Amino acid sequence: MTNTVFFLFGATGDLARRKLYPAIYSLYRERKLGDRFAVIGLARRPKTSEQFREDVLESIKEFARYNVTKDEQWASFAEHFEYMPLDINNTEAFRELKTVADRLDDKFDVGGNRLFYLALAPELFGSVSHHLQAGGLLETPGWARLVIEKPFGYDLPSAEKLNAEIRQVFEEKDIYRIDHYLGKEMVQNINVVRFANAFFEPLWNNKYIANIQITLSETVGVEERGGYYDHSGALRDMGQNHMLQMLAMMAMEPPSRLSPEDIRDEKVKVFRSLRGFQSAAEARANTVRGQYAAGNLKGKPVVGYREEDSVNPESTTETYFAARVFVDNFRWAGVPFYIRTGKRLPVKTTEVVVEFKNVPNNVYLSKKHKLEPNLLVFRVNPMEGIYFKMNGKQPGSEGAIVPVAMDFCQSCQVGLNTPEAYERLLHDAARGDSTYFTRWDEVALAWKYVDKIAAAWGERTDNLNLYQAGTWGPDQAQQLLSEDGFKWWPVNGQDEGEVAWEFTKR
Ligand code: BG6
Repeated sequence: MTNTVFFLFGATGDLARRKLYPAIYSLYRERKLGDRFAVIGLARRPKTSEQFREDVLESIKEFARYNVTKDEQWASFAEHFEYMPLDINNTEAFRELKTVADRLDDKFDVGGNRLFYLALAPELFGSVSHHLQAGGLLETPGWARLVIEKPFGYDLPSAEKLNAEIRQVFEEKDIYRIDHYLGKEMVQNINVVRFANAFFEPLWNNKYIANIQITLSETVGVEERGGYYDHSGALRDMGQNHMLQMLAMMAMEPPSRLSPEDIRDEKVKVFRSLRGFQSAAEARANTVRGQYAAGNLKGKPVVGYREEDSVNPESTTETYFAARVFVDNFRWAGVPFYIRTGKRLPVKTTEVVVEFKNVPNNVYLSKKHKLEPNLLVFRVNPMEGIYFKMNGKQPGSEGAIVPVAMDFCQSCQVGLNTPEAYERLLHDAARGDSTYFTRWDEVALAWKYVDKIAAAWGERTDNLNLYQAGTWGPDQAQQLLSEDGFKWWPVNGQDEGEVAWEFTKR
């Protein structure tokens, strides 16, 4: 049980509505929260606690995994929620907040634990931290932790500045930087599959693995976030964090112990081993950037990126990004990791494909047959599961060899009811487990890597490739792999309308 007062800054925002309230509700329903907790919603907008509880109810009805009706059970949950309008530049208001927090702490017998969740623009993290201190909110008999959303800065210098400001108030051990991909079941499962099964580890290296492909494709455009996104782009929005974090999970060495610091140390070693680019030309040769133009998605016409709300009509921001990444250590020398992400692609999916080296082509069966390589695929999102593709004899044939799949469909077993990333992460932050939060050194090294790419792109204006919405992005991303004799494996068993791997269909 985790006794906590949650301070939700940005309580009227989209993240709180879609993810945080539903997550708190699931934790409550699963008795992971107990009754000794309170939630204080904080935002500029005036509203009463009663209105706030109604909004929370609506968001839970719409987005939570558990059904809710306005009854006694709801009433006993909702009484833990209060709202306070707050001007975050006013220290006096933070003193008032302390009074409210102390009262709720007494009422629910919390014992002084405080979790400050900043679902705010990063420019505000530093000043809010200082105001929390000045308002006396950190003087508490329990612990005080800061949970912050990405983006953590815009580049390494801005991230360093931000970090320095926060560190004047909070120690690193009390800072929980969210990368919600680390809260996803199947991302966490990467470590379990790798380290809890004896047969993967001996093969998990450059002797047996030809390449690793990480795809994070989205069908959505920029929605209402044009203002933020146009400043950020796919490299900063997804590359610096989710993509590199998943890469680190795939590439890291087994940690010596299962402690958060040991696990994060191993990830840091991967980030340190990322092969930096010696020149801007080299960075450009190993990356692709694209932007969606108008097209069709699921049979409906959609506008191009430059026509989206709050986007500069002449914007050169990328909505697609692919890269060939090398991890220069003994395990991975010579194995390319291909990563790609984009908006307005044909399907919403996150998959990690491990392509194994093929059997030698001059022996036995491979002399007569064109054999497909073995693939191990982690399906992260929205379907969860793992499958392994291998070669087998086609039943009844004279010896035809066909690819067959061993398919563990997690979603088929637990339905789409696996815990949301935010449930896991909120619970972890409240009980002080920082394993699946990013430590400062990881963040800094990821920025260092990404900044080189951004700088190389910035030098030239001719490297933005337009792609039609509803397609798999610029052709250059295919070339990136074909140069090495590889291809992107179809995701979700589907590539541009063509159904591949019939055998995996249920
Ligand atoms: C966020 C990005 O971090 O992740 C968004 O800012 C993106 O642009 C989202 O849409 C994708 O997350 P998920 O969990 O829906 O795959």
